[in-house]
Amino acid sequence: MSPSCAATGTVDAVSTNEGLAQAASEVLERFAPAAGLSPRIDAFPREGNLAERLAEQPFLMAPMAGVSDAAYRLMARAGGAGLAYSEMVSVAGIHFGGDKTWELVYPRDPEPDVAVQLFGSKPDQFREATALVSERLGSRLALIDINMACPVPKVTRKGEGSALLDDAPLAARIVGACLAEASVPVTCKIRRSRRPGPEQAPEFARAMEAAGAAAIAVHGRCASQLYRGEADWGVVRRVVDAVGVPVIGSGDVLTPEAAARMRDETGACAVMVARGTYGNPWIFSNARRVAAGEEPVDPTLEERIAAFECHVRLLAATGAHLARARSLAGWYLKGLPHAAAWRNCAMACVTLDDFLALAGELRKLALASREGE
Ligand SMILES: Cc1cc2nc3c(=O)[nH]c(=O)nc-3n(C[C@H](O)[C@H](O)[C@H](O)COP(=O)(O)O)c2cc1C
Repeated sequence: MSPSCAATGTVDAVSTNEGLAQAASEVLERFAPAAGLSPRIDAFPREGNLAERLAEQPFLMAPMAGVSDAAYRLMARAGGAGLAYSEMVSVAGIHFGGDKTWELVYPRDPEPDVAVQLFGSKPDQFREATALVSERLGSRLALIDINMACPVPKVTRKGEGSALLDDAPLAARIVGACLAEASVPVTCKIRRSRRPGPEQAPEFARAMEAAGAAAIAVHGRCASQLYRGEADWGVVRRVVDAVGVPVIGSGDVLTPEAAARMRDETGACAVMVARGTYGNPWIFSNARRVAAGEEPVDPTLEERIAAFECHVRLLAATGAHLARARSLAGWYLKGLPHAAAWRNCAMACVTLDDFLALAGELRKLALASREGE
């Protein structure tokens, strides 16, 4: 069957979605099981020290700006992520009190808790942001992570993100400022170094541990590499050797096997999955299976289509802009017959109805291909 686009592409997205959107908990309850996902989400463990809690739930949804919104985090956790991070949130944005900034911070029902990642360069603003986030999220705040990894020039130019790797004393003051207001663990996410050459991560991680960081997440690339080239897991191992606090590994965890292997090869307590989650919320439960010596279970075509539908409904339920569903379509439908044409159909979708009609067409395709087997 070849694609026939059902989208009208003309109706005002927001007004149409308001009438149709269900509560996110109802969406998960009704649509997650058909996608092979859990309709219920367990809270990140609250008992024990952070190392024990991470060891219990070692597969985490990484922070991803422009991606890890509430709907994305809900899908990841329905797929078995132990915890999911917010997109990076500007402490200056919190200082100036923008609704758009707070949108990035709030967990949405039925998300039991969230790890909030902050970025900036001013210790006072980190202190204020930590106090406000702690007050507003209460027991739904699992931890505060400080971004010391972002390579984007717009960020580093202001001394934020990975620029902090070159200023350990300031980074340590930022950790201290967060600790002054936090009742949850404060962690740091770093990279190997800002640029190729001497590796900064182990010594820098030691300095953050001395400042009070409860864990260090390490992305094994230089900031100047952005996301290109191979991540060096050796850096993760060397940070594990350098500090006593738990280490969370990141970089090229694109399969369940890689997630399990990273822990084995580096000694990291936990692993962040970033691009490996694109169209694949099952990666978390599969990583657990692989870690337990079992075979991963690939989703069927029907489950992938059901996951796409569930995700789109969650976007609507959480008030997100449905344009995000267009890139989701590309990710969930990868490898499908006529995938490029289906992606084009998704590009023409505007309203929730449009995307649901597309999912309906895809279900017919799945049925036809099963009957043709
Ligand atoms: C689109 C995108 C957005 C990202 N945004 C953030 C962010 O806001 N904060 C952060 O610490 N890392 C961010 N990262 C980095 C990821 O968390 C992760 O460390 C990195 O992608 C390496 O993992 P991977 O190779 O498995 O994708 C982002 C990565 C991508 C691809």
